[in-house]
Amino acid sequence: MAVNKLTSLEVMRAAPVIPVIVLSDVAQAVPLARALVAGGIRMLEVTLRTPVALACIEAIAREVPEAVAGAGTVRSAADAQAAAMAGARFAVSPGYTSAMGKACRELSLPLLPGVATGSEIMAAQEDGYTELKFFPAVQAGGLAMLKAWQGPFGDVRFCPTGGITRDNATQFLGMSNVVCVGGSWLTPPDAVARADWARITQLAREAVALR
Ligand code: 3PG
Repeated sequence: MAVNKLTSLEVMRAAPVIPVIVLSDVAQAVPLARALVAGGIRMLEVTLRTPVALACIEAIAREVPEAVAGAGTVRSAADAQAAAMAGARFAVSPGYTSAMGKACRELSLPLLPGVATGSEIMAAQEDGYTELKFFPAVQAGGLAMLKAWQGPFGDVRFCPTGGITRDNATQFLGMSNVVCVGGSWLTPPDAVARADWARITQLAREAVALR
């Protein structure tokens, strides 16, 4: 298990965009990670949605030291444990449960808990989380929701994810309670399938330039 000194805020501040990565072939993991790093994106969220996801995290952690591999789609304490064992250095979840939060704290795994309502923000805050993923951001109210939360939740910072694109990312990044955004547009499935790493590096460069 990797020694972890990161905080959630450091994960969010590393770049304007956290790429949401879905991989179906472990052989894609290392070249994809290198392509993103070459474009200036180091924090990589590999979603636990495919049978090879943990192996992909392991490969990136072992072979791409410039990258920081994290696990996305973490939905349970068991997911968090498996991710940490694979070498994930942060976790991102689509929702929040106290059991998952507790497991992440015991593992010293920085977590960006997913929230979409005031009650979910309050549950995460009760457990000490003030850096949260707003998911699914566009579908759940987008910019207007973030603006509404600035009043009652002025101490919370968000990473909106879900429906964010290169066209609307700037608006989200312009909100005072947004530190970064998450999105899958840096890793188009067709580019990954064709091993078009140059395109992915270019998309990463454009993402870094958003801020
Ligand atoms: C997801 O969970 O797939 C992420 O929220 C990415 O969403 P996006 O494809 O809309 O960027």
